Parts: sequence; C-alpha cells; structure tokens
Amino acid sequence: MLADLQLRNFRCFESLGLEFAPGFNFFIGRNGQGKTSILEAACVLLRLQSQRSATLGSVVRFGQKSFAVSGRRENHRLEFRYSPLRRKIAFDDVEQRTLEDYLRIGRVVSFANTDIELIRGGSEARRRYLDFLGAQIDPLYRPTLRSYERALRSRNALLKSSQPRPREIAAYDAPLLEHGARLSGMRTRLVERLAPLAAAAHRDISGNGEALQIRFGPGNSEEFARDLENSRARELRLRQTVVGPHRDDIEILVEGQLANQYASEGQQRTVALALKIAQSRIFMTEEAAPPLLLIDDIFGELDPVRRNALLQHLPPESQKLVTATTMQWREEGVEGPIFELHDRQVIRR
Ligand SMILES: Nc1ncnc2c1ncn2[C@@H]1O[C@H](COP(=O)(O)OP(=O)(O)O)[C@@H](O)[C@H]1O
Ligand SMILES: [Mg+2]
Repeated sequence: MLADLQLRNFRCFESLGLEFAPGFNFFIGRNGQGKTSILEAACVLLRLQSQRSATLGSVVRFGQKSFAVSGRRENHRLEFRYSPLRRKIAFDDVEQRTLEDYLRIGRVVSFANTDIELIRGGSEARRRYLDFLGAQIDPLYRPTLRSYERALRSRNALLKSSQPRPREIAAYDAPLLEHGARLSGMRTRLVERLAPLAAAAHRDISGNGEALQIRFGPGNSEEFARDLENSRARELRLRQTVVGPHRDDIEILVEGQLANQYASEGQQRTVALALKIAQSRIFMTEEAAPPLLLIDDIFGELDPVRRNALLQHLPPESQKLVTATTMQWREEGVEGPIFELHDRQVIRR
C-alpha cells in the first residue's frame, strides 16, 4: 500500500503530508478544496503522470516554478521533482537515470465521473484509457508511443508548411510505420486482454445480463504502408497524416448496439465502471499486483444499487482513495479513515 504522501507546491497545496490506511481512505470536502489534487498527487508519485491532465505543467502551484511529491510504497521511498525544464526521480533516496525500478513499484486505476466520456466522447479518451494501462504493464509501451508521436508531429508540421515537399514528408514514413506498427500491435493485444474482463465486470455490476463487447478499431489496416501510400492526396488536402494509430479507437457495444448511440446514461455509466474494473483485474490476475484505486466523486453520485455492485466487485486487496462531498452515502462495512478538507487544511478523523 501507499503508506504516506507528501506534496510541495502541488496544485492548491503549498505543503501537505498524509498517512494512509490499507483499504479505504476517504477525502471529504466541498468543491475546490483539493480532493482530486490529492488523488492526482498519488497518481503522479506512482506513475509520473496525471490521471486528469495530459501534461504536468498545470500541476505546479500558481506562481511557483516546480512541484515535488514523495511517499513510501512497499517499503520503498519514491520521490519526484518536476519543473518544466527538469525532472528528477529518486528511488530509496538514490537518484535514477532510468524509470524502470521506480515505475515497478505502484500501479494505479482511476475512477471518475468524467469516465462517461469513454463512451460518449471522442476517440482520444479511449486511446488515453489504453495508453494509461499499457504504460503500466509494458515498459516499452511509453517509449513506443512517444516515438510514434514524434514522427507524427514532424510529419504533420511538414504537411502544414506553406509548400509541402513530398520527399521531405516521405522521410518520416519509415519511423511512422515502424513505431506505428509496434504501437498498433500493443494496443490490439491490450484490447484482446481487456475484452473478456470488461464483459465479466459488466455482468457483475449491471445485474441485468446485458452483454458488453469491446473491439479494437484500428486507425490503419494491416497494410499500414499501403494505407499511407493511398492517403497521399487526402493528407495534402487536409494537411495532416490521416491514417495510423493516432486514429485508433475502441468500439463499445451493449447487446450488439453501439453504446455511444443507443445506451442510456445509466447504461453508459455502468459500461465506464466495467472498463475501469477490467483494468484493475488485469493487474490482479495477470500481474499479481493490486493497483491503488483512485475513486473520485463516484460513490456520492451513483444510485445505491450500482454503488453496492461496484463496492462488491472492486478488488478487496487494493488500497482505495475515495473522494466525496459528504459521507452520507456510506454503506455498512465500508470503513476507513476520513480526511476532512477545509481551507487547505486536512484533518484526519
Ligand atoms: N496549479 C494550480 N495552482 C494553484 N491552485 C490550483 C492549481 N490547479 C488547480 N488549482 C485549484 O485547486 C483547487 C482544488 O482543485 P481540486 O483538487 O480539483 O478540488 P476538488 O476535487 O476538491 O473539487 C481549485 O480551487 C483549483 O482552482
Ligand atoms: Mg474533484
């Protein structure tokens, strides 16, 4: 478990130190008190990335140049200092050049109300869902994604220039194809692993026997090179690369119908929960590593039936950091320390 957490110049907090219990930990306070920021700090500490924003620049407290987070998990001390110019990580007080040892310590699954965007929103939310998981189970995932993105950016910059030169653009075809094919392969396998777990989680929590199916929707065919070749005219017209993993998606179907078009809001919320439970089950069953669960504003909002179903199917071994505006929803048997947030002060009850 994550035993403690210290933050410095992190979002709204100048300085804060917390000690956690195994199992449930509750963070209660009105909106804007810093609840999500505490969950984010735990995520940034363990994964060096935020569950809510794509970059870390916005995490630095207004008017400051850098933030720091530190804490202990599995008897290892982790420390991360970030400024836009420099990142520093230390593992057991030794500064690290590579991320490997550091990132082995903690896995994270984040549940939030905004997860409904996984079903309703654009494909970017679904790629982020895959990438957040992929980066935690395969050390090569993030470097591959970054290399693909770099090739894509360079290529798109050329396509946007006033006089695009086909030969210069083609110079980026090779890295785009190479990293793109690797990334597609990783995402294909991820969706294959997730699909049965998501279907089972959905059966567990929906209680109505509706079948959930997820399928990978690749942004290119198996003949990526030929797709690229065939898209030359279109990409010159649209001034961007139009095929490839940056167009990957996940198709989500409930009872054989596309969930974004046919499922009710309640059904969509259940699917979102199932997708997140599936992530935590990958860690449990395939990695034997209970993830830290960040559960942001979910319990207070769910109806009692869904809330109980969710409570019953979260991995019991996992430590859980839970935010809510009140504790009125609490079910019997759900015990743990309550941290009250008020005026940047956190008081443990
Ligand atoms: N970089 C930052 N520096 C200072 N304050 C910030 C920063 N980013 C967000 N905030 C503020 O932090 C407060 C707490 O945000 P949040 O953790 O989302 O609260 P909660 O989850 O309790 O609603 C908000 O009032 C927000 O305006
Ligand atoms: Mg919040």
